[in-house]
Amino acid sequence: MRKQIIVGNWKMFKTNEQGVQFIKNVEAKLKANPNMIVGVAAPTVMLSDLTKVAKNIKIAAQNCYFEKEGAFTGETSIPMLQAINVNYVVIGHSERRDIFGECDQMINSKVKALVAANFTPILCCGESLEIYEAKKTMAHVAEQLTQDLAGVTAEQMSQVVIAYEPIWAIGTGKVATPEIAQEICQGIRQHIAKLYNQAVANEVLIQYGGSVKPENIKDILSQPDIDGALVGGASLIEDSYLGLVQ
Ligand code: PGA
Repeated sequence: MRKQIIVGNWKMFKTNEQGVQFIKNVEAKLKANPNMIVGVAAPTVMLSDLTKVAKNIKIAAQNCYFEKEGAFTGETSIPMLQAINVNYVVIGHSERRDIFGECDQMINSKVKALVAANFTPILCCGESLEIYEAKKTMAHVAEQLTQDLAGVTAEQMSQVVIAYEPIWAIGTGKVATPEIAQEICQGIRQHIAKLYNQAVANEVLIQYGGSVKPENIKDILSQPDIDGALVGGASLIEDSYLGLVQ
């Protein structure tokens, strides 16, 4: 049986002090569940301190670069993250793609470097409102995944988490209905079966993201092909985060 995975994406919110306090407070109330992975993807500056106070919460980075070191001003390498015990990284979030111009080729290099280092990439995919309205979501998402996963072996796929996030549902309050989210997540699983095989597809964890809240997470997680959620806004407040993961 697949585990569930719920990860908060703090984006560019909170100071280091606020982040540390949040993790301490939530850890004190969190009941560990062996069938659920819970995490927080935090800004780079606080990752080191957060890993020191986190027990059950996995601390994830929101981005990284694929080269080990070098003249890459402003970037964070995988060995740097490894040295502070971070081994989950959100890759290819739509904000990275749209605001910072990350292309599928770059995302693919990052995913390959992460799995080679035994990290778990949380690989984001999803369509714009225009693509959604043109009913081309599945073709778009399949193409993203084909490119982003090129060269990743079937064996390495056991480390990869896929997050389906329709861009029109992110931070907008417009959540995809559980049925729409299920349809696309099922399509993603079928596409993974085509790229690899049915066994890999059956194992891969697929999250939905986009305006997930404590009030709607149950319906979303009850869908057969949705194994978790990547949550922005609703992961920033302690009670709300606890409401998502418990
Ligand atoms: P949201 O963000 O939950 O605030 O819609 C989701 C995300 O961007 O991962």
